[in-house]
Amino acid sequence: PRRVTLRTLRDKYRRGEPISMVTAYDYPSAVHVDEAGIDMLLVGDSVAMVVHGHDTTLPVTMDEMLVHCKAVARGARRAFLVGDMPFGSVEVSPEQAVQSAIRMMKEGQMDAVKIEGGFSNRVKAVRSVVEAGVAVVGHVGLTPQAISVLGGFRPAAQSASEALRVIKEAKALEAAGCFSVVLECVPALVAAAVTRELGIPTIGIGAGGGTSGQVLVYHDLLGMMQHPHHAKVTPKFCKQYSAVGAVIQEALAAYHADVAGGHFPSEAFSPYKIAQHEANQLL
Ligand code: KIV
Ligand code: NA
Repeated sequence: PRRVTLRTLRDKYRRGEPISMVTAYDYPSAVHVDEAGIDMLLVGDSVAMVVHGHDTTLPVTMDEMLVHCKAVARGARRAFLVGDMPFGSVEVSPEQAVQSAIRMMKEGQMDAVKIEGGFSNRVKAVRSVVEAGVAVVGHVGLTPQAISVLGGFRPAAQSASEALRVIKEAKALEAAGCFSVVLECVPALVAAAVTRELGIPTIGIGAGGGTSGQVLVYHDLLGMMQHPHHAKVTPKFCKQYSAVGAVIQEALAAYHADVAGGHFPSEAFSPYKIAQHEANQLL
């Protein structure tokens, strides 16, 4: 199958075909996402939460992101790869943003980067990164990297003035050269309005069905975060397509019981033999 490129995505958008996107963080998840035929794969900074166990996305570093990006790039042959710019990698100056984006492309082997936020200094960073030759996905609405000033993970654009700000930010990001914009946790009506206003695809998460595409976090959609004592809340907007966490738990418990009971390994799983005449010399 042919690689998904910016052109593939633009063609889908023009034809009104929904674009699918899922996060992945390592080689096996990338293989699965790729094989499923998903259009875009995001190496999200959500890795901080679902893989590294942090409570927010803030702690993950550029070097850590690059490790995940490289593993993903080895597993994905077809999907369009987007690397999330982590907190601290773009805020200081447009020059810093360009340098970070170049690392994502050269070292991380990504096809594009995603930059969170729509304030004016972020829009400037986006313009510089695009001018440096790197395709950029914007991200407005709930922006988890801003949790310190937001005071928690809450849905965005709940008032007319906030909704207007989200629309304004999305338009500014389009004008700065973004080829797509993620809309996170905004009312469906607002996401649909942004989608009508823009000439580039919107990718929604918790943003209703009126966007040009959808994105979900790998672990959330697979139902992986369901350990009995470490259950993480799956967001309300996330449909769980499986209960992989429970499947893993069951398998591990069965293995433990087998070992503890002396049932594993049985003869069938003891493949390495020594020839009889060799064995005789040992005894
Ligand atoms: O990091 C992430 O997983 C994301 C998606 C929720 C869009 O940014
Ligand atoms: Na993110």
